[in-house]
Amino acid sequence: DGKYTVTLIEGDGIGPEISQSVKDIYTAAGVPIKWESVDVTPRLKDGKTVIPDEAIDSVTRNFVALKGPLATPVGKGHVSLNLTLRRTFNLFANVRPCKSIAGYKTPYDNVDTVLIRENTEGEYSGIEHVVVDGVVQSIKLITREASERVLRFAFQHAQEIGRNKVRAVHKATIMKMSDGLFLNIAREIAKDFPNVEFDAELLDNTCLKMVTDPVPYNDKVLVMPNLYGDILSDMCAGLIGGLGLTPSGNIGSECSIFEAVHGSAPDIAGKGLANPTALLLSSIMMLQHMGLTDYADKIQNAIFKVLAEGKTITGDLGGKASTSQYAEAVMKAL
Ligand code: IPM
Ligand code: MN
Repeated sequence: DGKYTVTLIEGDGIGPEISQSVKDIYTAAGVPIKWESVDVTPRLKDGKTVIPDEAIDSVTRNFVALKGPLATPVGKGHVSLNLTLRRTFNLFANVRPCKSIAGYKTPYDNVDTVLIRENTEGEYSGIEHVVVDGVVQSIKLITREASERVLRFAFQHAQEIGRNKVRAVHKATIMKMSDGLFLNIAREIAKDFPNVEFDAELLDNTCLKMVTDPVPYNDKVLVMPNLYGDILSDMCAGLIGGLGLTPSGNIGSECSIFEAVHGSAPDIAGKGLANPTALLLSSIMMLQHMGLTDYADKIQNAIFKVLAEGKTITGDLGGKASTSQYAEAVMKAL
């Protein structure tokens, strides 16, 4: 029927409400997408968290998924479902742009950062053990394979979005071996991209400079190991107003999952108060990834228009609109 099928993981808490906004706006915009909703309620198999086969099959078949927030189940043996998804599909690069929203005032103007986070290893390797009582080791795993993959991706992505500078963010002065390897590989890969300038910066210094003046970062793509990217991407989100406004994309070679990074907000779930902007902007990244750029532009412009007017915005942004009133305003602005 000429439509793309996309897997939809609505998620927990406010997930279904914000997913509904995306579905309504996409219908109104005539986006040629058919949603395939899947349940990712985890199952424990041999002491490990696994995703139901139907969900795995759906993402594998459709190549792209949009995902709302997932709460991590409590209980022995469960690891974060979000991480399980990244690992299951080997989504090696996590792309996290942060762009100031016109009309939403923060202490910073004209922020436009792009951060790429290694998404499969580092401190997220899950390898931890007790050596003796009172002494534990958590392994930060850095491999040539994963580093090469994410670094190469960062250079390619920079070219695709028209930036000719890549900066590796690291702490190789202390993490001599792990970050040292990452940094050396970055220098090697840089040679394959003569049109892209490459440099490196220590993570603590990046933080200092970014909160002082983020604008000099607007022409760069930052690339870094997993945990640094987790932390620094939240800091960047803080520069523009928080996780309710920032998108993300987990990119793999077989498939990709675009997700809102904020939590499931159980305290406001079901009340029609949630802000769907982060999920909407993640879906815009997804449309761009799929080459549906006309639809991406159309919906993105409508979102920015409604936010800039500031009349029909949700409570987290200082407004009074419900989730569906905001969605309707976006539909009218299309
Ligand atoms: C993120 C989140 C996740 C992470 C959590 C939910 C496991 O903070 O996507 O940044 O730590 O990667
Ligand atoms: Mn995080």
